[in-house]
Amino acid sequence: MALDVTRIKTGRLFDELAHLWPLVSQPEEYREEAGHWRQVLREKLGPGRHQILELGVGGGHNLSHLTDEFDATAVDISEKMLAHSIRLNPDVEHHQGDMRSVRLGRTFQAVLIHDAVSCMLTERDLLAAFKTAAEHLRSGGVLIVSPDFYADTFSGPVFDHGTHTIGDTELTYFEYTYDPNPRDTTIETVMFYLIREKGRLQIEHDRFVCGLFLLNTWSGLMAEAGFQFEKRSFRLRGMEREYVLLVGVKDQG
Ligand SMILES: C[S@@+](CC[C@H](N)C(=O)[O-])C[C@H]1O[C@@H](n2cnc3c(N)ncnc32)[C@H](O)[C@@H]1O
Repeated sequence: MALDVTRIKTGRLFDELAHLWPLVSQPEEYREEAGHWRQVLREKLGPGRHQILELGVGGGHNLSHLTDEFDATAVDISEKMLAHSIRLNPDVEHHQGDMRSVRLGRTFQAVLIHDAVSCMLTERDLLAAFKTAAEHLRSGGVLIVSPDFYADTFSGPVFDHGTHTIGDTELTYFEYTYDPNPRDTTIETVMFYLIREKGRLQIEHDRFVCGLFLLNTWSGLMAEAGFQFEKRSFRLRGMEREYVLLVGVKDQG
């Protein structure tokens, strides 16, 4: 029986399937990239135990590699994902909120938006998230974001898979990212989770709609929100495309 993709509910991994998150993603997988975030933070802010804010912290996997050197606060829209991050990062202050509108009423030296920035589907949403970042930064403060893909270079389909086991549960995921409509600002990832528990195999599916923007759009919107824009490229082991961090330094005054 064929399954119509548009009937697959979106974002289940951050909601009703959030219990699967630790089986889909492991903190250790973020160690190398977190090293580049640390390098940029040190370069821009210098030594010291600076205060940083992550928007869309998810399970807090990337953040878990930065908390030994920085004092962190974290925001996510999903209570269930926050619960994972709280378990992993018990010393971090956590808040539930939407990165487009949350206002904590205080400032930080850096704001980080890791892959959660892909949840911004329109230029308007992206600008709102950048304005949130600007509101939470002092002059000279640093914004770092890491979009997964750019409209300039995206070439689908992109396929990934992995298997992880925790206790008696083994999960294999298949991840397929493609562009259903090249004329809009989104792409789509379809996921299948094969969960083996006590000799039984159960299959769940999931779908994520993600923003896809030109590099010029990223830089233009960052400038509009009051940032000096910089693109930093790195190489990660086992990753064919370059790993890019978009860095904004909040304008003085
Ligand atoms: C892929 S996960 C982030 C994983 C994270 N990078 C880590 O290291 O664990 C994406 C997260 O973005 C969150 N999110 C989506 N839209 C959001 C929004 N508008 N505001 C805040 N968080 C949002 C989701 O709830 C989810 O937890």
